[in-house]
Amino acid sequence: MGSEKTVLLVLCCSLLSLSSFVLSQDKTLLDNIKSRTDLSKILEIIEGDEIVKMEFEQRSFMAFMPTNDAMDRFDGRKDSDFIYAHLISTVYQIEDINENETLTTRMKGNPALYVTKIPNGARVMTGWEDHDYYLNNAKVVIANQKARSSKGEEPILHIIDEVLAPTRVKGNARVPVRGYPEAADVLIHYRAYGLTDENSVRMFKERVEELHEMDVYRQTGGNTYFIAVDSAIKQKQRLDKQVIHGHVVLGKAMFTRPASKIGEDIKSLAFVDNLKVLIKMVNVTSPNGSVVYYVTSNTVASDNRHQKGASVARLIKPNIPVANGVLHLIDRPLMTTAESIMSYLTEKGGQLSRFYALFKEHQQDLLEQLRSHSDDEAVTLFAPSNHAFSMVKQQSLDAVTQNSNKLNELLRLHIVRRRLYTDDIVQGFKTPTMSKDRKLYFAVNQDDLSKLPIVSVEGAGVNATITTANIAAENGVIHIINRILDIPSQTIYEKLASNPSISKTNNLTRQGGFSKQFQDRDEKFTFFVPNNDAWAVIKKNMVSSYKKLFMGEYPYHVRTIMERHLIVGKDLSIKMLMAITNNQTLDPNMPNRQEKLQMARGKIYFQPRLNRHLNEYTVEWNGVVAKVVQSDVECVNGVVHIIDKVLMLREDVTVAATATTATSTWATITTSIITMMLVTMMR
Ligand SMILES: *[C@@H]1O[C@H](CO)[C@@H](O)[C@H](O)[C@H]1NC(C)=O
Ligand SMILES: *[C@@H]1O[C@H](CO)[C@@H](O)[C@H](O)[C@H]1NC(C)=O
Ligand SMILES: *[C@@H]1O[C@H](CO)[C@@H](O)[C@H](O)[C@H]1NC(C)=O
Ligand SMILES: *[C@@H]1O[C@H](CO)[C@@H](O)[C@H](O)[C@H]1NC(C)=O
Ligand SMILES: *[C@@H]1O[C@H](CO)[C@@H](O)[C@H](O)[C@H]1NC(C)=O
Ligand SMILES: *[C@@H]1O[C@H](CO)[C@@H](O)[C@H](O)[C@H]1NC(C)=O
Repeated sequence: MGSEKTVLLVLCCSLLSLSSFVLSQDKTLLDNIKSRTDLSKILEIIEGDEIVKMEFEQRSFMAFMPTNDAMDRFDGRKDSDFIYAHLISTVYQIEDINENETLTTRMKGNPALYVTKIPNGARVMTGWEDHDYYLNNAKVVIANQKARSSKGEEPILHIIDEVLAPTRVKGNARVPVRGYPEAADVLIHYRAYGLTDENSVRMFKERVEELHEMDVYRQTGGNTYFIAVDSAIKQKQRLDKQVIHGHVVLGKAMFTRPASKIGEDIKSLAFVDNLKVLIKMVNVTSPNGSVVYYVTSNTVASDNRHQKGASVARLIKPNIPVANGVLHLIDRPLMTTAESIMSYLTEKGGQLSRFYALFKEHQQDLLEQLRSHSDDEAVTLFAPSNHAFSMVKQQSLDAVTQNSNKLNELLRLHIVRRRLYTDDIVQGFKTPTMSKDRKLYFAVNQDDLSKLPIVSVEGAGVNATITTANIAAENGVIHIINRILDIPSQTIYEKLASNPSISKTNNLTRQGGFSKQFQDRDEKFTFFVPNNDAWAVIKKNMVSSYKKLFMGEYPYHVRTIMERHLIVGKDLSIKMLMAITNNQTLDPNMPNRQEKLQMARGKIYFQPRLNRHLNEYTVEWNGVVAKVVQSDVECVNGVVHIIDKVLMLREDVTVAATATTATSTWATITTSIITMMLVTMMR
């Protein structure tokens, strides 16, 4: 009887899958597009053109169709050429397209599409979802929708989230260009291609011509060209041949989204024997949520005419596709030293605008230091990005801005009175700052010798990483950092991980499953954290309990013990704890016990102990008294008080206890099953 059923089941299943297979192949490419509501806008254009529509019905190709959202964001011409720029004659499953491949579109002049394939960490055995696929700057959101064709290959539909707008002249402009324009054509005929007013590139173009370097812009292959607009160019002479080459990457078409996601330093054309210039694309999310792209040029080795250091420019008109790659307009020439640190700080809507606001609104006189132009007053500014500001509590930030002295010291901690390039920084390096008696401490990490080292800086207990290093200005250097020094920005989770004296408790909270909770920036905790000395006492006195807890097989017990040390929902400083439990100093000989503290599990006592020199605070549970050895360690989502004993007893962890729990659980289950059976039988 069993086998018959199995056969039937198998038959059913195969029929089902067969029918769905047939169904999907039954549709034409156009049917497939029609069946999707998110493609109605592109469909409208296809159906509005008889010839295009016929092609879709009769020919087999691969179509990259932009979603309605993508169509709405695009305000250029949407004609038949626009459609052809989205069609490829060769049909591929997306995963069969190679990493650095170019695809030839069916538009007149056959412009290429550049494919970037980035592993995304997803774990799939087959299919395409373990990579992100980009065509130029458009990301594939749905792939491999097969369709029926009357003859030849089956067409395939892929859906993308940005249009693949071809580069074309504006309106009826005429240019002596045959086929699809190369970078040189767009540069030479910039006006016809709509690069006017604030996007005019006349000066850059003239400079390239003066230097007889236009051939660089005709090189075949997928290249990347950065072009500074007129308003960016202060002195044309500064743009010598090497600087022009520093704006070019040959053999790699870098579109903003995929390139910033990869975030690699790429060799520019100015990477020769005695001059080495690297290019990197980064994205920055501005306070209003929009994403802005920057390019950094980093001169890591310099000849005598070019300075070491970085320049950062914003992409003001990115991703202009050309026959030989892609072109981006930028607001500052690369490989040039800015006149002043201020020019980076004051950049409108730039990534340092919140830091600048601290100076501008509260500490005008400090700004003078950054304005200075004399060389012996050069400074190095560690400038927290806008993102760094989102890592601290508004409350902590307000506390600083409302206290002029505090703010002054905070800002001064970010300034060093000399030029300091990361080249000068070695592991363990330290330097005084403008904040009296306060130093910055550095660490250099270089796991991969082929990459630039990662430099971190610590000031006032905050560990920040330099995200963009060595931005050169005539009056100093800027390093952009990812944290504000002097304002705590760590979560409880990060604090536990970064303080080696509490590494044991860190280990237990991880196996106890607290990690996610402690990373939540919107939650509040008060955590009495036993330090490693406290655990050493347990290790000595309760050998087997200690072993069991740290073996990782007793997460339930770990959780119970940890919850006894933890208050969820409140961040209580020692002062507040005092107020809650008892507001007068107790006589140590008269343990006049006050209100107990409600912990995540159970209650404990919190008490001050009068000492001749200073007040001491203790917590107590079941006769175990722990001393607070470091109090009020502030985190964004709570406060940590480090204690010297673990609030636990031997009974907390016993083999018997687990056995009982296990047996009793089983017993309960068994009993309930039997009860259920009995009840059923009795009916
Ligand atoms: C694609 O390009 C990258 C960077 O240029 C290179 O490292 C990689 O090996 C290339 N992949 C293939 C398959 O050629
Ligand atoms: C920005 O760059 C980071 C890598 O630095 C990447 O993880 C992220 O996806 C990028 N975001 C956007 C919107 O491109
Ligand atoms: C968001 O801010 C950027 C500058 O940071 C600006 O260019 C952009 O126009 C703003 N967008 C909106 C929607 O306000
Ligand atoms: C900052 O933290 C990182 C990672 O934990 C560490 O490697 C580095 O040494 C720290 N930097 C400083 C200056 O303490
Ligand atoms: C905790 O410590 C034990 C023993 O040292 C180690 O095997 C385990 O990997 C650690 N667990 C965590 C989550 O750090
Ligand atoms: C301190 O104790 C006194 C007397 O019991 C009480 O009136 C007062 O409100 C308490 N203060 C606080 C901050 O709890």
